[in-house]
Amino acid sequence: MRVTVLGSAAGGGFPQWNCNCPNCTGVRRGTSRAVPRTQSSLFVRPDDGVDGVLINASPDILQQIQAHPALQPARALRDTAIAGVVLMDGQVDHATGLFMLRERGTPLPLWCTAPVEADLTEGNPILRVLSHYCGVSLQRIPIDGTAFRVPGVDGLQFRALPLSSKAAPYSPHREHPVPGDNIGLSIVDERAGRSVFYAPGLGDITPPVLDAMTGSDVVMVDGTFWTDTEMQTVGVGRKTARAIGHLPQSGPGGMVEWLRRLPARTRRILVHINNTNPILDPDSPERALLAREGIEVAEDRMDIQP
Ligand code: MLT
Ligand code: MN
Ligand code: ZN
Repeated sequence: MRVTVLGSAAGGGFPQWNCNCPNCTGVRRGTSRAVPRTQSSLFVRPDDGVDGVLINASPDILQQIQAHPALQPARALRDTAIAGVVLMDGQVDHATGLFMLRERGTPLPLWCTAPVEADLTEGNPILRVLSHYCGVSLQRIPIDGTAFRVPGVDGLQFRALPLSSKAAPYSPHREHPVPGDNIGLSIVDERAGRSVFYAPGLGDITPPVLDAMTGSDVVMVDGTFWTDTEMQTVGVGRKTARAIGHLPQSGPGGMVEWLRRLPARTRRILVHINNTNPILDPDSPERALLAREGIEVAEDRMDIQP
């Protein structure tokens, strides 16, 4: 399989439109070697296939499609390589791009869990609005570990794992999580026998999450914040990383420690990086620490062939 990072930033992107934190200022002025990033999304397709799966529909989807000609194969007057969309949660940075796909000629094949479907029907009624355009062909993501496939994308198998994280702020159960608010996704290339675990919003590494990570060739996991209090330290917000469902990378029990437990052969990549995170600067000490740990920081256009 081939996994393309369409967007490697968390909600808001990098630089964020209204932000003048050191990272956003540095990338805007060109005084840091950090590169701009669009919001959190992947495209995955079989090695020999054109059509693939869009994982998360970010508000930057139109820019991402333009940056990746493979997503626009032009086999017909109207065409797309997006055979279906799979959502990790109902957060604004992962679902708003569905609006931008409304010009399809047929209903959009969309995979999500039951609580995400409820949130996108009531709290943020994207699905109701889309029914006045192309509509969606809604497919339920099972959270009991049953594998599912996306028709038109041969040889790839998907399996969801409910995660401890957070539903979107607009969700009626933001503070009362239910299983399926957020999922991690195992993607298996059946022919090659290779697998990727993807979890852009991951609040806690439970035993099933550690098992899924240990059994994968590549892990692409929550790289939102370096510290729990990062938004307070930078002065842009009061909430902690953990309070909004993101495990910080540094410190005891942080993501770096968990990634150290994986087999040496595992490729470790941080995704969904917030604009405040010092790891965005390739010259930062935090980035040097990650390099010593063998942990990569995703960039837009990164191509992964596990
Ligand atoms: C998150 O991952 O916590 C959210 O996407 C934040 C946001 O809505 O920007
Ligand atoms: Mn997010
Ligand atoms: Zn910023």
